[in-house]
Amino acid sequence: MSITVRAAAKINLHLGVGRAREDGFHPLDTVYQAISLYDDLTLTTAGADSVSVLGSPYIDFRDIPVDATNIALRAVAQVPCDDGHLVQINKQIPVAGGMAGGSADAAAALVAHDRLHELGQGDDVLLAQAARLGSDVPFSLVGGTARGRGRGELVEPIEDHGMWWWVAVPAAVGLSTPDVYRHFDRLFPDAPERPAEPTELLAALATGEPVRLARALHNDLQEPAIDLRPELGALIERGEAAGALRGLVSGSGPTCVFLCDSVDGAMEVLAGLSADHDVVLTATGPVAGAHVLA
Ligand code: C5P
Repeated sequence: MSITVRAAAKINLHLGVGRAREDGFHPLDTVYQAISLYDDLTLTTAGADSVSVLGSPYIDFRDIPVDATNIALRAVAQVPCDDGHLVQINKQIPVAGGMAGGSADAAAALVAHDRLHELGQGDDVLLAQAARLGSDVPFSLVGGTARGRGRGELVEPIEDHGMWWWVAVPAAVGLSTPDVYRHFDRLFPDAPERPAEPTELLAALATGEPVRLARALHNDLQEPAIDLRPELGALIERGEAAGALRGLVSGSGPTCVFLCDSVDGAMEVLAGLSADHDVVLTATGPVAGAHVLA
């Protein structure tokens, strides 16, 4: 028995970060958007657990564990079961790129396991399992455009009638999310307890106006990410010079994403950045959360 589930990459249109809580996590007020870069995960019942990963040539697979610590197997283990499972991941989401690639795999595995064994768990149960696996995993289940609070795990869908064009430039070497948060703490020891709210961003989304959305994009992890990787600042400048309405670091980075005004605008930015970067991707958002592929 086998089933395939697709889950999307995320970007943060707004990422407000507050001072670290006692548990070490940072309070967030964020607006996620799922974009059309996907991992497809096939789950098959098997005698023993195993993981295999393949995918786009630009993906660096070396850092993806293929033992029980893989987040997809940890997701499957949320519901004890007599069967072992083979997890096959076809990866297009950059690894350690700030685009929730691991979270997408976890969300896909939760849905796949539920459907494969016809468990019929409700959304609330899956969302609680997702939150145990990571702050971004609930959003990977939900998809679309959504506000995230708490440590990012409390998600609430937002109406988004826009069809937004993005160009994404992954880096050859990933950044560790905890490292970027630690650097945020060093740079901003007096960060407010309450993270910045996405008021202007929500208004911009409702208009469907790319120029207005561009002005409202905001990421409190951008400064620490650029401080750790100064070349990201230059990349954002190059993308904007090539015609992007706005460039920003995706989540904790190092992938940078560029909002464009149209498909033609995205093609121009892609052409402009391709001279200096081996991998330049285009995507649209919002797209659906984790779902079974027919
Ligand atoms: O929840 P997740 O496993 O994705 O978080 C990875 C790491 O990122 C955490 O261990 C923590 O260091 C950092 N983090 C944080 N505040 C958040 C989310 C993540 O400090 N809201």
